[in-house]
Amino acid sequence: MVKLLIVFGTRPEAIKMCPLVKEFRRRGRMEVRVCVTGQHREMLDQVLGLFEVVPDYDLQIMQKGQTLYDVTTRVLCGMKEVLEDCRPDLVFVHGDTTTAFASSLASLYQQIPVAHVEAGLRTNNIYSPFPEEYNRQAIGLVARYHFSPTRRAADNLLREGKPAEHIFVTGNTVIDAMQTTVRPDYDSEITRWAKDSRLLMMTAHRRENLGEPMRGMFRAIRRVAEEYPDVKVLYPVHPNPAVRRVASEVLGGCGRIRLIEPLDPFDFHNLMNHAYLILSDSGGVQEEAPALGKPVLVMRDTTERPEGVEAGTLELVGTREEPIYRACRSLLDDPEKYQRMSRAQNPYGDGRASQRIADIIERDFL
Ligand code: UD1
Ligand code: UDP
Repeated sequence: MVKLLIVFGTRPEAIKMCPLVKEFRRRGRMEVRVCVTGQHREMLDQVLGLFEVVPDYDLQIMQKGQTLYDVTTRVLCGMKEVLEDCRPDLVFVHGDTTTAFASSLASLYQQIPVAHVEAGLRTNNIYSPFPEEYNRQAIGLVARYHFSPTRRAADNLLREGKPAEHIFVTGNTVIDAMQTTVRPDYDSEITRWAKDSRLLMMTAHRRENLGEPMRGMFRAIRRVAEEYPDVKVLYPVHPNPAVRRVASEVLGGCGRIRLIEPLDPFDFHNLMNHAYLILSDSGGVQEEAPALGKPVLVMRDTTERPEGVEAGTLELVGTREEPIYRACRSLLDDPEKYQRMSRAQNPYGDGRASQRIADIIERDFL
């Protein structure tokens, strides 16, 4: 039987790969093995629990405050053993994390073909996002299958000279995941807390924003929370100690700001759906918000997801305090602008990306 090894290690990869694991398993025509690197721990386990996926291998590499060197070497060496034990016919990696990069390199070293899910996103600025832009370009060099979420991402790969017959536009598997999480009748303690207020959801974790940029981002949000009595801010804080420190220093002790532990994707997606406005430097949030029709102020200087900007849902506001503060105020004060940004549009497909990927692999391997 053809054997597939599906590898991931962080929260966003898990959210976007679990639908694929389930699709292959539902079909039952190939042997599916799941390897988690454990680049994330609690945040990864939350997603595995929600989607009821039990890994066959777990490299358990996470260390508090890990560096890029730690993650790269531990995944690379760990994957050597897993590949030798599993002997897969094809390895699936996702997106742009160091787990995905090092796993694709480990596969190359054993000349095992790689399928890259969410292929072709580019800023073409190697330091933004860092090191993700490098990671995804490097995976692109190794991959045999490039599964692109949009036509634009596929075109990026064609421009780089990748063979057209190895590039497939499938939609993004995050939409597959959202079809199982978003419920119109969702209710929770947090929705009750935010009742009668405008809820601002935020996330922030990018490595290139750690330190002063993040401090500026948080100061902008604190000013908004203090100036608008009808605004409440919910921030599930990334467990990175460098994020936590600044978050509690700048955002702590304000009654209308709640700093909470990371939410599982069920709660997070539904609270996004409930929110008035989202502030984020996350990649995945930029894909989910357009589907929900929620305006996002993207706290970054570049984005590899221009589809959401074109759809009108995303606005790039950089990482400096004053522009973020002003952009936030303008969305809170200008109902017409808010309405313009709130139209639900979905550039990321119809929720059948996993089915398309499985169809292509079955066509080639069965
Ligand atoms: C990683 C990815 C990034 C992705 C993000 C998603 C790389 C280089 N970065 O960044 O592309 O956008 O995940 O969230 O691959 N920690 C915990 N528990 C967890 C997860 C993290 O305690 O469940 C803490 C640890 O102290 C860890 C630190 O967060 O050392 C940073 O984690 P790491 O995976 O290195 O970086 P992220 O910023 O999460
Ligand atoms: N997310 C979640 N719980 C949270 C915050 C985010 O489940 O508390 C989800 C979110 O819906 C999205 C993904 O995590 O699917 C984004 O992950 P993250 O921002 O960590 O990484 P990125 O997408 O930037 O790589």
